[in-house]
Amino acid sequence: MANDNKRFLDIIAHCKEYGFIFPSSEIYDGLSAVYDYGQWGSELKKNIKDYWWKSMTQLHENIVGIDAAIFMHPTTWKASGHVDNFSDPMIDNKDSNKRYRVDHLIEDFAAELRSKGEEDQARELIEEMERLLAANDFDSLKKLIEERKIKCAVSGTSNWTDVRQFNLMFSTQLGSISEDASEIYLRPETAQGIFVNFLNVQKTGRMKIPFGIAQVGKAFRNEIVARQFIFRMREFEQMEMQYFIRPHTQKKWYEHWKEERMKWHLSLGIEREKYRFHDHVKLAHYADAACDIEYEFPIGFKEVEGIHSRTDFDLSSHQKYSKKKMQYFDNELDENGKPYGNYIPFVIETSIGLDRMFLLIISNSYTEEDLSTAEKQDSRVVLKIPALIAPVKLAILPLVKKDGLPEIARGIMDKCKTYMRCFYEEKDTIGKRYRRMDAIGTPFCVTIDHQTKEDNTVTVRYRDTMQQERIAIHNILAVVEKQIR
Ligand code: GAP
Repeated sequence: MANDNKRFLDIIAHCKEYGFIFPSSEIYDGLSAVYDYGQWGSELKKNIKDYWWKSMTQLHENIVGIDAAIFMHPTTWKASGHVDNFSDPMIDNKDSNKRYRVDHLIEDFAAELRSKGEEDQARELIEEMERLLAANDFDSLKKLIEERKIKCAVSGTSNWTDVRQFNLMFSTQLGSISEDASEIYLRPETAQGIFVNFLNVQKTGRMKIPFGIAQVGKAFRNEIVARQFIFRMREFEQMEMQYFIRPHTQKKWYEHWKEERMKWHLSLGIEREKYRFHDHVKLAHYADAACDIEYEFPIGFKEVEGIHSRTDFDLSSHQKYSKKKMQYFDNELDENGKPYGNYIPFVIETSIGLDRMFLLIISNSYTEEDLSTAEKQDSRVVLKIPALIAPVKLAILPLVKKDGLPEIARGIMDKCKTYMRCFYEEKDTIGKRYRRMDAIGTPFCVTIDHQTKEDNTVTVRYRDTMQQERIAIHNILAVVEKQIR
């Protein structure tokens, strides 16, 4: 575990050093659990988003995308249940005043037990916690924390307050004059923008059930205990899809989407053993079944995506609060030959955090390699990001800054940059330039040397194997495109 945490810290440092992620407003000492994506981070994030968008919308003919506003009518959040239910149980240590999410406090304690080889006790503790959370039994949760003598990391005492619920939604004022202003929320999930537009999309797109609506966008949660880098942020992005189905067919579609989503993850070349499903014991207020797709981050197996069977909870509730019909007319015939008629569809949701997927890709690709030989010590850090989503696809590097090589390299750059993200660099030795490209995950480098002037060939160098071969200039695009399409 200690080694894994070192790996996690190394990844965080690498993200900062190579322009992937910076703490937000760092010159003012940053803002807790808020991050900015730098030049390569924003490229990678966009590529992940595009890959998800394409596979969900373009490759599924019955799924379309929307882009709803972050601000929504405040009643939306009453109807969705977030005003009343979107909260986490918290506990404060009376001596340090430090606040903990109850599940995090207990999970950390269970991890300590595991590190001491007390696997059975750890499992028992987690099972008991999940049972009490599911029952909203806060008194017993407090008792559990006290009985196990779980201590605050700051004060070292187990002098705890009662367990209380904290709502995670941020609110702000709409309107400039304070008397007229009304309180609205920053959306805590993108899904509600899809639900309220369900009929707009269904009617204007002439969509037939089953069909899906997908969306990528920002969500905001006032996470009381924000930690673990971009794993848990206060401002983050979600990629969500609501799949509208006939009532009581949810079991079949829930299994279908579990499988589909796992296939998507594996399509990026990530090993199956790095993933697992985790079924929820405590269900959110809207769900009749739910599971997480978990990935083995350096800090352990953690949720990256949720698959939720949301029944007709959201549409029914919006129908009730808005007094507008949220029904679909199904003119197909059932097994008895009768039309299905009007109904409120059920929904299966797939919801993946874009930032978590980013962290997954970086964690999975970050590789430290020892390249030492008998003659000299050497090593490299390389991000083995799938070529398809790598921030830069191709680096174009003239061997020296003279003899007409930069001119040829510039010509190649001008041709290639209209097709893919390329990077031109002529400073430093070629070895140093290769290392810098390894560190940002560039899968292909081409080097222009004196032989290029004679036979119009370049050296292409492959990131993962570091192998090199000579290819004709006119073949560069074909070699790269084969890997990124
Ligand atoms: N619409 C359902 C929903 O929002 P969720 O399990 O609360 O479900 C879905 O969130 C996904 O959003 C999570 O699997 C995670 O990847 C991401 N996510 C949730 N909270 C996050 C946070 N504070 N920071 C980063 N990502 C978060």
